[in-house]
Amino acid sequence: MTHESAHGPGFPASRPRRLRRDDATRRLVRENGLSVNDLIQPVFVIEGHDHSEPVPSMPGVERLTLDRLQAEAAELERLGVPAIALFPVTPAAAKSNDAAEAWNPEGLAQRAVRAIKARTPEIAVITDVALDPFTVHGQDGLLDANGYVANDITLEALVRQALSHAAAGADIVAPSDMMDGRVGAIRRALEADGHPETRILAYAAKYASAFYGPFRDAVGSAGNLGGGDKRTYQMDPGNGAEALREVGLDLAEGADMVMIKPGMPYLDIIRRVRERFDVPTFAYQVSGEYAMLNAAFDNGWLSREACVMESLLGFKRAGADAILTYFARDVAGWLAEH
Ligand code: PBG
Repeated sequence: MTHESAHGPGFPASRPRRLRRDDATRRLVRENGLSVNDLIQPVFVIEGHDHSEPVPSMPGVERLTLDRLQAEAAELERLGVPAIALFPVTPAAAKSNDAAEAWNPEGLAQRAVRAIKARTPEIAVITDVALDPFTVHGQDGLLDANGYVANDITLEALVRQALSHAAAGADIVAPSDMMDGRVGAIRRALEADGHPETRILAYAAKYASAFYGPFRDAVGSAGNLGGGDKRTYQMDPGNGAEALREVGLDLAEGADMVMIKPGMPYLDIIRRVRERFDVPTFAYQVSGEYAMLNAAFDNGWLSREACVMESLLGFKRAGADAILTYFARDVAGWLAEH
C-alpha cells in the first residue's frame, strides 16, 4: 500500500517538493539569481607607490596605492565586474575644517579616477561625495559656530567635490552625506558645468548605523569622529516610511539610481523602495557586515562561499538590482568557476 493511498486518493493536494526533487528542476524554477553584472567592488586608496596595507577589522581587504589600484581595476574588468567604488584615505595633514582637499583636482580621489580611466576606461568608476575623509572632525559636512553640521554651506562644498570628480572622469557620483537638497544641487551644477552624462547614485536611505565601524577604521576617520555620531543627518534605524520619502525626494531632484545602506538589516527597505518607485535600486553590504561574516568564516563557524552567496541572493530577492560589497571580486571569481 502506497503512502498516498493510505490517506485516500489525491492526498496531499499539493506537493511543493516535486519542484525541489532534482537539480535540473530546482534550476528551472529558481526565481532569483546572482550575476557578475550585479556587483560593485569598493576599494580603499592610499598615497604611495607599489604598496598595500591590510585593514585589520576587514580581513582580506587592503588599501591600495594608485599603481596597485590600476592592477586591481584590470583584474575586476577581466572578471566582468561592471563597477568600482573609490574611497580615498586622506593623510591627516590634508584634513581641514573646510574640507578643501575634497575638491582638489590633484587630490587622491581625483587622481585615482584618472588612473583607472587611463588603463581601463570601460569599468565604471563611482566616487563617494561626502566630506568625512577630509574634515578634521570626521563629519560628512561643515560645522556651524555651534558645532552642528550645517546643511546649506555643506551643499556648496559637495557641489565642488562632485564637479571635481566629474571633471576627473568619474562615471557615477554617489552622494553619501545625507544633506537635504544635495542631489538637486549636484544635478544642476553637473548640467551647468558640461557634465550632463554623469550619473548620480544617491545614497537615498542611509542609516546612522553601527555597522560602519570598520570602514571608518579603513579610511582613518574613526579617530577624527571620536565619540561623535551622525544622527542629525543619517536616518534613524527605527524608520521605514521615512526612507520612501527620502528616495522620492532624491528622484525628484534628479537621481538616476538609489542606494539603501546598510544591507542585511534593511532588506525590508530595499523591497519597499523597489515596489514603490521601480527605479534602479542598489544595496550596500557595508564594512560591518563584511567583518561580521569574516569573523565567523575565520573561526570555522560558517562556510565562506555558501554564506556569501546566500547573503547576496537575499539582496536580489529583496529587489536589489546591484550590490556594493567587499566580496565582489571573490564572488566574480566563484561565478566564473561554476
Ligand atoms: C562616508 C561613508 C561611510 C561609508 C561609506 N561612505 C561611513 C559613514 O557614513 O560614516 C560606510 C561604508 C561601510 O561601512 O562599508 N560618507
